[in-house]
Amino acid sequence: MKKTLLITGGAGFIGSHVVRLFVNKYPDYKIVNLDALTYAGNLENLKDIENAPNYVFEKADITDGPHINSIFEKYNFDGVIHLAAESHVDRSIEDPNAFIQTNVMGTANLLNAARALWKNNMDGKRFYHVSTDEVYGSLGEEGFFLETTPYDPQSPYSASKAASDHLVRAYGNTYHLPFVITNCSNNYGPNHFPEKLVPLFINNIKNNKPLPVYGDGKYTRDWLYVKDHARAIDMVFHDGRNGETYNIGGFNEWQNIELVKLLCKEMDVRLGRELGTSEQLIAYIKDRPGHDRRYAIDANKLNKELGWYPSVTFEEGLRLTIDWYMANEDWLNHVTSGDYKKYYEKQYKM
Ligand code: NAD
Ligand code: TYD
Repeated sequence: MKKTLLITGGAGFIGSHVVRLFVNKYPDYKIVNLDALTYAGNLENLKDIENAPNYVFEKADITDGPHINSIFEKYNFDGVIHLAAESHVDRSIEDPNAFIQTNVMGTANLLNAARALWKNNMDGKRFYHVSTDEVYGSLGEEGFFLETTPYDPQSPYSASKAASDHLVRAYGNTYHLPFVITNCSNNYGPNHFPEKLVPLFINNIKNNKPLPVYGDGKYTRDWLYVKDHARAIDMVFHDGRNGETYNIGGFNEWQNIELVKLLCKEMDVRLGRELGTSEQLIAYIKDRPGHDRRYAIDANKLNKELGWYPSVTFEEGLRLTIDWYMANEDWLNHVTSGDYKKYYEKQYKM
């Protein structure tokens, strides 16, 4: 094997797309997927590659420092792509501690393990930290997040991600740990856990359930198809400059309510319903506390340096996503039973 890479959080939404891309594209890399399989981790996401000769799964919790150290010693990793995290803002409002433990302490454990393993030779090594645009805070109607935008996180989730970004940079500065960070906008696509806007609403439209739009619905996000994020991670991991940050975004801003209306239209077509039927499910509900008004990413650095640009348009990506959810009812049924359901009832009281 040419390289042994650790991918954390590989059983989750984005991680599973990254693992699949690397396992298929780089048969001469050994890919170790480390995941604690929390409510958001699902090995069903990786059924198609689970028997690949260059793929290994390790069930481990990144908050368990000694276990993480032993896994680093066992595999002697050349690189780390770190995606494991608690990722849902609403859950972070409900219970910030899990976010502080996993996103901050867990990242520190990985940094310590990498530092210990690579202390005598850092050549060719790389710690890639996957982060979010939410660390920059909230924008007004104008402007974009640049890599130089000061951090101003507003939720326990984004604060924990910001803390982990700072730790990665501090280890780079203090211990010369080779690193790269990307801050990406909202992803959507197959395998997305149905607590986030797009998959939740697809599922609810399908089942004729209310579509809970927070506040006035005029909050704005920049949406990127998950496979384009995975492509960007591949490019940055291999060709990004050491110690740099790259923003990743879809060049694709939508107000929530406009996105929901588009989704309703596409679902009406897909379900053979009269146009306008699904829109009637829209229900404005109490706002999320401290809700960030607008995120918008300027991803031109990544475009100029590495030539990355989203390959899938939003309309195409939404259609692919809807098709996937309609064709994968079993996946949806499995994740909507159990813990997710209890959480859902508590969150929405529906
Ligand atoms: P996800 O919640 O779908 O998956 C997270 C994965 O991490 C799950 O498989 C879970 O089991 C695992 N995990 C959680 N805690 C763990 C722990 N303590 N130890 C080991 N594994 C653990 O998240 P996602 O949406 O795929 O996000 C992946 C990464 O990308 C996160 O770091 C997130 O901050 C970042 N990100 C997400 C988005 C987005 O729109 N989803 C956008 C930008 C950045
Ligand atoms: P989400 O998918 O939770 O991503 P994030 O909060 O990380 O951007 O939410 C996207 C947007 O949709 C956000 O403005 C909150 C809003 N939203 C709703 O209006 N209703 C919902 O039920 C959910 C989950 C989100």
